[in-house]
This record gives sequence, C-alpha cells and structure tokens, in this order.
Amino acid sequence: MFSNLKDQPADKILMLMASYKEDARSDKLDLGVGVYKDAQGNTPVMRAVKAAEKRIWEEQTTKSYVALAGDSAFADAMRDLVLGDSVSADRVAAIATPGGTGAFRQGVDLIRTANPDATVWISAPTWPNHVSILKTVGQAFKEYRYFDTTTGEVDFDGMMADLDGIKEGDVVLLHGCCHNPTGANLSGEQWSGVAQLLRQKKALPFVDIAYQGFGDGLDEDAAGTRILAETQPEMLIGASCSKNFGVYRDRVGLLMAVGDSANKKTTQGNLNHLNRQNYSFPPDHGARVVTTILTDPDLRADWQAELEDMRTGMLVLRQQLADELRQRLNDDRFDFIARHRGMFSRLGVDEAKVEAMRKDHGVYMVSDSRMNIAGLNAQTVPILADAIAKTCR
Ligand code: LMR
Repeated sequence: MFSNLKDQPADKILMLMASYKEDARSDKLDLGVGVYKDAQGNTPVMRAVKAAEKRIWEEQTTKSYVALAGDSAFADAMRDLVLGDSVSADRVAAIATPGGTGAFRQGVDLIRTANPDATVWISAPTWPNHVSILKTVGQAFKEYRYFDTTTGEVDFDGMMADLDGIKEGDVVLLHGCCHNPTGANLSGEQWSGVAQLLRQKKALPFVDIAYQGFGDGLDEDAAGTRILAETQPEMLIGASCSKNFGVYRDRVGLLMAVGDSANKKTTQGNLNHLNRQNYSFPPDHGARVVTTILTDPDLRADWQAELEDMRTGMLVLRQQLADELRQRLNDDRFDFIARHRGMFSRLGVDEAKVEAMRKDHGVYMVSDSRMNIAGLNAQTVPILADAIAKTCR
C-alpha cells in the first residue's frame, strides 16, 4: 500500500530550518522559522511559564481527561485576552486546540460542515501552511491582494477591490496582527473599512491571531479583531499561545466561534465533535500554564513585562536595521522595516537575491524574502545590512 504514496511538497520554512542546521559556517544567521530569540540566540522559557509549571507540578493531583473542549477556564481567560469586552461571553463557543495551526484546521473543518459551498479568501501572500491546509482538506480558496512589494505596505485599495468579489457566506481569512509573512498591517481605519464591507457582503471573517503582544501591545494588537467582534454577526478566531507565551512545543491554541447566543449550544457541540473526531481531548498542560498565568495577577504582570521587553527589543532591531540600510544605500527604500510590526518583515526581493544572501553571506531567510527580526541582535544587524546592501543594491 505504501508504495502508492507520493512525496509531499516540502514546507519551505521547515526546509530552511534543516538547511540552516547543515551549514557549517559559524557566522551564519538564522532569520527563518518564526521562533523568538533573545540577544544570545536562545528561545528561553518565559519566567512566568516556569513559575506556573512549578505550581502545576506541585498542585496537580490527576492527569485524567478534562473535557472535549478543554478546560473552560482556559477558554474564558483567552477570550478575555483576545476579545476583551468587545463581545458577550454567551455569544462565544470555543475549543482548545493543539496550537494555532490546530485552531485553523478545526475552523476550516467547521466551515466545511456549515457551508461546503464557501470560498475561503486568503491574503496574497499568507502563511504557507494556510494554503497547504486548505489544499489538503480540499477547501476552495481564492487570494485577495494584500502586500505592495514596491512600498512594503498594505495594498489596501487592491485588497478592497478584490474583496468586493466575495459572495454571501464566503470566509475571509485575516491576520489579527503582525501579518505573517509580510509584517505590514491594517490601520484601525482600514479594519473598520474591512468590517463594513464584510458585513455588507454577509461574509464570515476568520481571524488568525498568532502574535498578540509582538506588535504594538496586547490590546493594540487585538484591536482589529475586536472591531470585527463588535460589528459582525458571526466570526471565527484562531488564537495561538506559541509565540506570546513561548510554549511552542506544548501546542496551545484556541478556536472561538462568535455568533448568535441562540446557536451557541449547537456550535459548541459541533466544535466538541470536531475535537473528538480529530484527536479526542486537546492537550492540557500548556493551556493550564497559560490559564495559571492569566488568572494570577503577579504571574500575569511578570509575563506582560517579559513580553513587553521582547516586543520593544524587536522594535529597536527594526529601527537599527532600517537606519543601517539607509546609511549604506543612501536611500529610504527599506524604511518600511521600522514601520512593520511583529516578528517578520518581507523585504520584497526576488528568490535569486535571497539565495545569493544565503550562499554568499550565510543569511537564511525564507525564499519569499521573509526575515525573522527576532533572529537578529545589535551585533548581527550590521552583518545583515551589509548582506542586503551588497546583494540588493
Ligand atoms: C512561521 O511562520 O515560521 C511559524 O509560524 C512556524 C511555522 O510553523 O511555520
């Protein structure tokens, strides 16, 4: 039977991780996979996570199953973190999932159950795994324009023109903040414009929010999602704790379906059913760590302080890189790097230049020229600026 199998297309981010590992050069620079690194190049366990894990280890008396939806305290704490008071709790059904990817996958499965005729609209570009998952499940999708490679900013006119083509019941996937892979984000006014259009078209927004707290701050990064929650009759939200809690391998995510409170019981039942069919009970440990942090004022304050240090550190690196490039090129072409938010910026150069930077300078960025700003530190920014200046002049 297995001889019938064909090779699957490689994931370009994971492939890059592997080739970086194999490169023997000591001055190589890993700007590939979206994992936060400190100035020493480590991805530390956050202080509050360590403290919460210790507390759980001391106090937990059973590892028995929790619930198909996961712990309701986790859903409550995450709903509050993402949605604040933009929507009442009786309108939100939710399931814990293995990471934000699990939330996205379950969300797509829910769409397919509720409306098999829907088309999912995705930004061009988007996180490659969005595309891959949609293809894997056979979900119809179309792209809307999003990024203008010449300005490094959102092509908002193009986006709105393309979204004008959506039909009732279609789904529009939006990145809540810190757009991956571009780093270019909608302004508050633009979010309101999108909200108005989606409402008018009777389309369903699906927000993937994986970097809350990495852009302009925890509440600021959720502002667009909250505008939608306030204005749309229904929406889906997939949230990830991988990055903002640094619990990548523990797989912590939540899928929320916002709708009419009269439908909540049935929606919740469908979400529970999806969990049961795909993996039964969702993982609990990381979710419990996150809940412990969010519900304890001291741990929460410490987590927020550490997250804020990570966020502001990335902003400093962005500014330094933009400044160094302006000096070297005597041109403001790459100033958008300082205006972008989150872990990524897309340089907007072609694959041959990305390849040349890898070969000649040991700089590893994704082939679409996405670089992970958190892979830099004050000493390596000039090295990258040299590589970009020499290759992309
Ligand atoms: C990324 O975009 O690099 C991260 O979200 C990691 C991944 O799974 O691709």
